[in-house]
Amino acid sequence: MEASSFFERTDRLILRRFSTGDIEPFHLYRSNPEVATFQSWEDYQYHEAQVFVNQQIQNHPNQPGSWFQFAVALSGTNQLIGDCALHTPLVEPRIVEIGFTLSPEYQGNGYATEAVGALLRYVFHSLGKHKVIAFSDVRNSKSIAVLERVGMRREGHLLQNYMSKGQWIDEYQYSILKSEWER
Ligand SMILES: CC(C)(COP(=O)(O)OP(=O)(O)OC[C@H]1O[C@@H](n2cnc3c(N)ncnc32)[C@H](O)[C@@H]1OP(=O)(O)O)[C@@H](O)C(=O)NCCC(=O)NCCS
Repeated sequence: MEASSFFERTDRLILRRFSTGDIEPFHLYRSNPEVATFQSWEDYQYHEAQVFVNQQIQNHPNQPGSWFQFAVALSGTNQLIGDCALHTPLVEPRIVEIGFTLSPEYQGNGYATEAVGALLRYVFHSLGKHKVIAFSDVRNSKSIAVLERVGMRREGHLLQNYMSKGQWIDEYQYSILKSEWER
């Protein structure tokens, strides 16, 4: 794979653009009820995956007012194993929000921690952002563990901050400043 065709690489992974070949594996893990437990979506349909991936193929990271989804793939085979999201807000684009998901068969190997670490490097080093934030359902212990392993701080406990599947959800806000990441 050419250097220009991915955003970041680690020992085992690359963060790259989505392609049409990812639609099937993406749909497979997004439609898994276990993956959706703490997420906004439910019963994710194949045509939703098609629309989503085709939109991401047109998108670029760091566009104020939009989300960009990075495909997380094994560097050896280019197989999609999950994704990382980056939101660049319109009002203050120097503070960005991230999210992440791994296909269940690839969980438990440190891949999410490795991918989010690479995303932080891209955001601070390549994009020069000031601060990264992430929200996690307080019950989502695996997500909280990833956020803490990459060095993010719990900055807030936000009560009934998010409506998911008909109920208000408490969330933690995690953050890391560029100055903290550089240390
Ligand atoms: C959140 C999510 C990505 C975490 O996945 P994960 O596989 O637990 O996280 P990692 O890939 O970093 O793997 C960590 C685990 O691998 C283990 N591991 C094995 N080999 C490892 C290695 N070489 N390096 C690091 N960790 C390793 C760790 O000990 C840890 O295990 P533990 O959970 O038993 O302590 C996953 O649960 C998910 O996709 N959930 C659904 C979507 C979601 O809720 N996303 C969060 C919203 S922001």
